[in-house]
Amino acid sequence: MTNEGAVTYKGPERVFSGVQPTNGLHLGNYLGALVKFVALQERFKECIYCVVDLHAITADLDPKLLAGNTREVAAAFLAAGVDPTKSIIFVQSAVRQHTELTWIFNCVARMGWVQRMTQFKDKAGKHAERMSVGLFDYPVLMAADILAYKATHVPVGEDQTQHLELTRDIAQKFNNDFGAPGFFPLPEGLIQGPENEKYGARIMSLRDASKKMSKSDPSDQTRINLSDDADAIAHKIKKATTDPNPLPETVEGLAGRAEAENLVGIYAAVAGVSAADVLKEFGGKGFGTFKPALADLLVTKLGPIAGEMRRLMADPGSLDGILRQGAARAAAIAEPVLDDVRKIVGFWR
Ligand code: TYM
Repeated sequence: MTNEGAVTYKGPERVFSGVQPTNGLHLGNYLGALVKFVALQERFKECIYCVVDLHAITADLDPKLLAGNTREVAAAFLAAGVDPTKSIIFVQSAVRQHTELTWIFNCVARMGWVQRMTQFKDKAGKHAERMSVGLFDYPVLMAADILAYKATHVPVGEDQTQHLELTRDIAQKFNNDFGAPGFFPLPEGLIQGPENEKYGARIMSLRDASKKMSKSDPSDQTRINLSDDADAIAHKIKKATTDPNPLPETVEGLAGRAEAENLVGIYAAVAGVSAADVLKEFGGKGFGTFKPALADLLVTKLGPIAGEMRRLMADPGSLDGILRQGAARAAAIAEPVLDDVRKIVGFWR
């Protein structure tokens, strides 16, 4: 699709992103999303961060755990440094406009577009016919999340790139079909880390660097969880798959060494430096030196976040207050957008 809708969009810049409340967060979520959420608060006047519980129920989920998991992700936002006086933090199911816009977008998006989504194919495998319709429709809900706020910038990890393309296609088709040029922006993904480093955009499994670090991997050893203690972090890094060679002196030397590249990338993203800087310090040294340094860095960075999350979770009343206030602020932005959408679509009013 062409990009002409972006040219005519005249509204304010706005950041939106979401994180699912499924089984706790890991280092990939932290570097792919949370670190960017915090950095963007300084660059943009309006940042909106959402715990996407409607997305979480597209897979089987224990209803007894959902509210607690939702609070845990909100606590992670805050503990990582998202400031509720600067950003809006809220829960997706508390703002009805998301589901209303999803239905309208279901009638804009084409089957062929959604069928191309690789994440559904990966999750469903050979059992697509047994998956929920919600899992298939998941990216349309994501488009509604973003466009209910007319968000222009979306910080996410690399795995969400295709969903953002779909979001732009839906925005463009809505604008074209309903004769509303420039009504929705064509939102841009913010995939790279703060220094435009590619590291952080795609953190790989600690055991198999051809797979991304993921909540759904059955082995906990493949990921660092935000809730891991120092011993667990040290153990997982020590056991991480590597090759027998020392680290190279230059970034080019990481080519073809996916495990080494992943660990150097993690170090760079967590320390907020470039991979070249990491190799200036550790080039020529073996993993026997590098791994303990990486484990120490992770413990120093993630330890206080885990501690702050525990503190916040111990006071669910305060957390719920922040989320309720966030939902009211979010709805105040989304409702006028939906009101215009209802008019544009031609509903009886
Ligand atoms: P979710 O909950 O799977 O992941 C949350 C964020 O973490 C990023 N991420 C990673 N980044 C780097 N390396 C990894 N290994 C890694 N694993 C996960 C994801 O890219 C994401 O940014 N569909 C989204 C949630 C969502 C959303 C939205 C995002 C719903 N609506 C609207 C943006 C805007 C998802 O499932 O993320």
